[in-house]
Amino acid sequence: MPARLVIGGQWGDEGKGKIVDALAEQAAVVVRATGGNNAGHTILNPLGKFKMHLVPAGVFHPQATSIIGNGVVIDPKGLLDELAILKRAGVDTPRLRISDRAHLVMPWHPLIDKLEEQQRGGSAIGTTGRGIGPAYADRASRTGVRVADLRDEAFLTAKVNDLVERKNKILSLYDAPPLDARQILEECFSFAEQLEQYIAPTEMLVQDALDRGEEVLVEGAQAALLDLDFGTYPYVTSSFPTAAGSCAGAGIAPTQVRETLAVFKAYSTRVGGGPFPTELADATGDHIRERGQEYGTTTGRPRRCGWFDAVAGRYVVRLNDVERIALTRFDILDTLPELRICVGYEANGTKIDHPPAGEGQWSGITPIYETLPGWQSDTSAARSLDELPAAARRYIERIEGSLGARVALIGVGPSREQMIRVDGGVLV
Ligand code: GDP
Ligand code: IMO
Ligand code: MG
Repeated sequence: MPARLVIGGQWGDEGKGKIVDALAEQAAVVVRATGGNNAGHTILNPLGKFKMHLVPAGVFHPQATSIIGNGVVIDPKGLLDELAILKRAGVDTPRLRISDRAHLVMPWHPLIDKLEEQQRGGSAIGTTGRGIGPAYADRASRTGVRVADLRDEAFLTAKVNDLVERKNKILSLYDAPPLDARQILEECFSFAEQLEQYIAPTEMLVQDALDRGEEVLVEGAQAALLDLDFGTYPYVTSSFPTAAGSCAGAGIAPTQVRETLAVFKAYSTRVGGGPFPTELADATGDHIRERGQEYGTTTGRPRRCGWFDAVAGRYVVRLNDVERIALTRFDILDTLPELRICVGYEANGTKIDHPPAGEGQWSGITPIYETLPGWQSDTSAARSLDELPAAARRYIERIEGSLGARVALIGVGPSREQMIRVDGGVLV
């Protein structure tokens, strides 16, 4: 039984956490493969309400091994804090494993992240400030610290001393105070001791599970439109939150993938800067934000809200070979008298069918909309398609038609069971 990948289809916060928590009931392994604690996955299940940043949703399922894979950048303090919160809530994590190849977010990374953002001024990306970009940049520059390094005190000491000297030169360019290598090393030794029990060659655990024919589920973080190459560069994250990136970040070959399920909100949101053609900077946008409580799980920032963008969505569906999607937060639209779906972009009188690459090209884009009637009734108790009003079903059909993918799951509320499983959902 090959792997199933769950990825975000838009700009993040589509409800991946909830979907993975629901699907993990069947999984032997649940892996986070990309990003770091810039992610915020809210999960509401019989054990409580949890805001997960690094730990996969598998920890709520006793049969599952939860893995933080090689493609993730791990803030050790963030991880330990998250484990402490879970423990206090009665969730033990004996089956958590973290890749010895994963890179660490070191104390200089969030500092440099914030200083670079300040330097960008009006064109700031609006990062989460968690040091994700600088950590991935160091990985690519081959100056990163890896989880495996925590196990070799002499090597780690030499490495951190060298890196602190170099990073202090960068910090001085920003007139920021220098870091103390000794203090950082002491923290690292403490992290090493506390994390030792979890460290493993996780790609081998994933391959062993695949060999046994067990279900491996990848919990995507961020989303395809935040991808370094295919997202709205430079307003993106610094990893590859696509199907391909999920494979690379977990140790799965592309041929071992059974399905890539993309999670889409029934409308669009994004947090931080960057292009967003269907953004509603009006009362409807405010209404969606308040009704949906669209505030960031990680940073608490208000999310920008807008209509469903099927042009960007179709691009994601095609590039990731998505046949089925989960459509979440459907219930948030229950009150609207009419809805719009963006089915095309127009730039200078010409229709374009995919997101442009050039940063400057976005400002000339006007969305082409289709307008559909709202259903103006409560869908939160629906558990099958035929319990939805006709207008709601029509909206879903239009999304399927414009994306070229089928809707397998429909979220009608935040909790695990508030979901319509179309034709059995994805579990068939
Ligand atoms: P993620 O980062 O993709 O896991 O999504 P977030 O957790 O950041 O944001 C999604 C929010 O929507 C969370 O507050 C979830 O509890 C909530 N949520 C998920 N699915 C649904 C749904 O179908 N309906 C409603 N009302 N809320 C949902
Ligand atoms: P989940 O997994 C929404 C956004 C940030 C910013 C950009 C770059 O919860 O869906 P970064 O800190 O990664 O360098 O910030 O990416 N971003 C997210 N937006 N959901 C996320 O994760 C995000 N992770 C990063 O807001 O615009
Ligand atoms: Mg989130």
